[in-house]
Amino acid sequence: MPEAVDPLEFRRVMGHFPTGVSVLTTVDEGKRHGMTANSLTSVSIEPVMILACLTRGARTALAIQTAGHFAVNILADHQEDVSRRFAKPGQDHFEGLDVIDGHRGIPLLPGCLAYLVCNVDDVVQAGDHDIVLGNVEACEMSSNGGNPLVFFQGGYRTLPGMRSLG
Ligand SMILES: Cc1cc2nc3c(=O)[nH]c(=O)nc-3n(C[C@H](O)[C@H](O)[C@H](O)COP(=O)(O)O)c2cc1C
Repeated sequence: MPEAVDPLEFRRVMGHFPTGVSVLTTVDEGKRHGMTANSLTSVSIEPVMILACLTRGARTALAIQTAGHFAVNILADHQEDVSRRFAKPGQDHFEGLDVIDGHRGIPLLPGCLAYLVCNVDDVVQAGDHDIVLGNVEACEMSSNGGNPLVFFQGGYRTLPGMRSLG
């Protein structure tokens, strides 16, 4: 039997895979919820679907599943403070924050690069996380453009330049 992989080592190794950063938002029985998430992945084109891996039982993860809808706010490189705000457990993440009233009344965060609104298609249990599959009902890009906030090796980064290599 190979030795069991150390979860901390696993996190460090996976930290070498850079990701963008999003905030998932929802409204459940009139209460707004939101969480920072970088496990976002595009899944299917026909139909258009995405997924996010959410800690089972976490506050916003539960609200998304109960509400059946959520928005994805893709953060720009000037929004590290927004990412930190929505990653703090046990706080009212929206206190003192301006939001845009989005599709289905879901709060959207101003200044993001792009937005999607999804309905929950399925939830698949995987270890200590739930894979939430969403059908994309609406999506749009900000007309202002901008560069993404990047998460790499456990820290926030910005791209040094947007030069294309191809
Ligand atoms: C950059 C970054 C990415 C994160 N990505 C995820 C993720 O994909 N899934 C997840 O369950 N938690 C993720 N988290 C942790 C949650 O944002 C954090 O637990 C948050 O407090 C959950 O909100 P809640 O307490 O309202 O449920 C991430 C945190 C950071 C800083």
